[in-house]
Amino acid sequence: MCRFTPREPVVGLRGRAPTALRVGLVERRSFSVLQWSWVLARGTVAGVPLPASEVCHVDVIEAINSRRSVRAFKPEPVPREVLEAIIEAALRAPSWENTQPWEFAVLGGGVMKDVKEALAAMGQAGEKPQLDFPWPKFSGPYLARLRADGRRLMSEIGLPKGDPEAIRRWRTSMRTFFDAPNAVVMYMDASLSQWSLVDMGIAAENLMLAAWHYGVGSCALAAAVAYPEVLRSILGLPESKRMVLGIALGYPDTSKPAATFRSSREPMETLVTWYGFD
Ligand SMILES: Cc1cc2nc3c(=O)[nH]c(=O)nc-3n(C[C@H](O)[C@H](O)[C@H](O)COP(=O)(O)O)c2cc1C
Repeated sequence: MCRFTPREPVVGLRGRAPTALRVGLVERRSFSVLQWSWVLARGTVAGVPLPASEVCHVDVIEAINSRRSVRAFKPEPVPREVLEAIIEAALRAPSWENTQPWEFAVLGGGVMKDVKEALAAMGQAGEKPQLDFPWPKFSGPYLARLRADGRRLMSEIGLPKGDPEAIRRWRTSMRTFFDAPNAVVMYMDASLSQWSLVDMGIAAENLMLAAWHYGVGSCALAAAVAYPEVLRSILGLPESKRMVLGIALGYPDTSKPAATFRSSREPMETLVTWYGFD
């Protein structure tokens, strides 16, 4: 039975082990952030494997329904063990004939700082963002959805309308992973086709759901790969690697609306047609 969910994250808190970890396995004690994360990632306490029922934090459907893009983070980094567990889940994604087109650069510490500074500097220097894939053009219902949620988000986070300086700051924060302590850059080889982008998307969702499972917030960010040359240069990647998606990772700062904003969805009637279910 799941005992805790991302809505009540235990990682990042110092406190007593939850009942799930105490019963029959460990005595009542305090856990540090790192110990917590290690327990969550490995499903063991002091080398003793936890029963599968106790390792579960959040049901898949609950995770899918409760996940949201997190755009405000606490500064504490996500421990490497937790990041490894998240990436393992991404690597289990299905792909066209198991080609596994994805490659991941996991960023932390000084490199994360360097990347954020370099991306911010590009914006400040007025460099035009240039994705490795053509910018999408949205119209009709797609544009309407984009605008509706975008306006609501801007209003909830209190971004003043028509204030170019505030908009510039928001764009910069988007391109710099909303100052998350960690991030993943997903990239793939230039020899691959558009089909591999489908696989990349599936892997990205696996990654974000797995992150949520561990109480780690995420935000998929095209904006963070808008200066792909900068990423290739800092990460030492060749020209033949296409930057597909940045994903900010960190513990949500739920005191900020940017971490709790709930996006809308179209109702089923709008997008789903049923055949043979009279
Ligand atoms: C491919 C892709 C690119 C995205 N790029 C950005 C981005 O550049 N900036 C941003 O704030 N959110 C970005 N997002 C997050 C979407 O805005 C978000 O997923 C959508 O509004 C639905 O909200 P939710 O994730 O909270 O359900 C991106 C999502 C995807 C899948």
